[in-house]
Amino acid sequence: MNTVNTINELREQVRAWKAEGLTIGLCPTMGYLHEGHASLMDASVKSCDRTVASVFVNPIQFGPNEDLATYPRDFESDCKLLEAHGVDLVFHPEPAEMYADDFCTFVDIDVLSKTLCGKTRPIHFRGVCTVITKLLNTVTPDKIFFGQKDAQQLAIIRRMVRDLNFNVEVIGCPIVREADGLAKSSRNTYLNPDERRAARILSRAVRLGQSIADEGERSSETLLAAMREKLASEPMADVEYVEVVNGENMQPVDTFREGDLVAMAVRIGGTRLIDNFTVGQP
Ligand code: PAJ
Repeated sequence: MNTVNTINELREQVRAWKAEGLTIGLCPTMGYLHEGHASLMDASVKSCDRTVASVFVNPIQFGPNEDLATYPRDFESDCKLLEAHGVDLVFHPEPAEMYADDFCTFVDIDVLSKTLCGKTRPIHFRGVCTVITKLLNTVTPDKIFFGQKDAQQLAIIRRMVRDLNFNVEVIGCPIVREADGLAKSSRNTYLNPDERRAARILSRAVRLGQSIADEGERSSETLLAAMREKLASEPMADVEYVEVVNGENMQPVDTFREGDLVAMAVRIGGTRLIDNFTVGQP
C-alpha cells in the first residue's frame, strides 16, 4: 500500500492505472477508521481493480462551534486497517494542499441540504460537496463508496453526481453497528461509560421504528410519536430531530412509503450522534 500527500502524486498513480485499463474505487474518509469505514473498503476491493482511500479531516465542512480541532486522529492505525483490507493507495493531504489561502470556489446543493442535519449545520454539506468534487476530479474513479449511516450525505452526493453529470457510480453501503446496536462512529470515542450506555437509545428507537413500519403503519406522526417516546425514556438523550423524509429529496412526508428515510440526531452529553433506517430495508 502506498501513501501520497499531494494532488499531483495522486493524479500520477491514477494515470498509470488507467493506462493499464484498471477500474478504480474511491472511499473518502476523515480517518480514525473503524469497521464501518472498512466495509466501504471491502466493497470497493471486491468490485474494482484498485482502491483509493482518502483520509482527510475536511475543515470546510465543520461549523465554527464544531469539533474540527478535537476530531480524533490516528493515521498510523488507519494505515494498518486500510492495508489489512486491501486498499492500494491512501491519499492523506495537508489542509493547505486542498485549500489555498485564497480558495473561494464551493459546490453548494439546495433543497436536500436544508432539512435534517442541514438545519443545525448550515455549511456542512457545502463543505462535503466541495471536497468530494475535488476528490472526484482528481481520482476520476469508476465507483465512489459511502455509508448509509450518513444517509443525508449519501442522498446529497447521489443528487450532486446526477445534477453535475459526474461520470461515477455512487455505491451506498449498509450501517455497521456495535454488538449492542450503536452505529459505529469515530465520534463514539467522545462518550464516557455512562454516555456510551445511554447511546444505545438511538438504535433502540430505530429498531422500534422499523418494527412499527414493518407492521404496516404509514403515518409519520404515529411513527415519530412512538420513537420520540422511546428516546424520551433515556434521561441523558437530548433530541435534536427525528423526522421522516422522502428518500430522494429529503423533504418531510406525512405519509411514508418504502424507500423513505427515518433519521435522527441526538445529543448524549456533549456528543452529537446520528442514526437512521430506510423504510422497507433491513
Ligand atoms: P467519515 O465520517 O470518516 O465517514 C466516511 C464514510 O464512512 C462515510 O461514507 C460514512 O457514511 C461511512 N461510515 C461511517 N460510519 C459508518 C458505519 N457505522 N457504517 C457504515 N458506513 C459508515 O463522512 C465523512 O467522513 C465525510 O463527510 C467525507 C464524506 C469523508 C467528506 O469529508
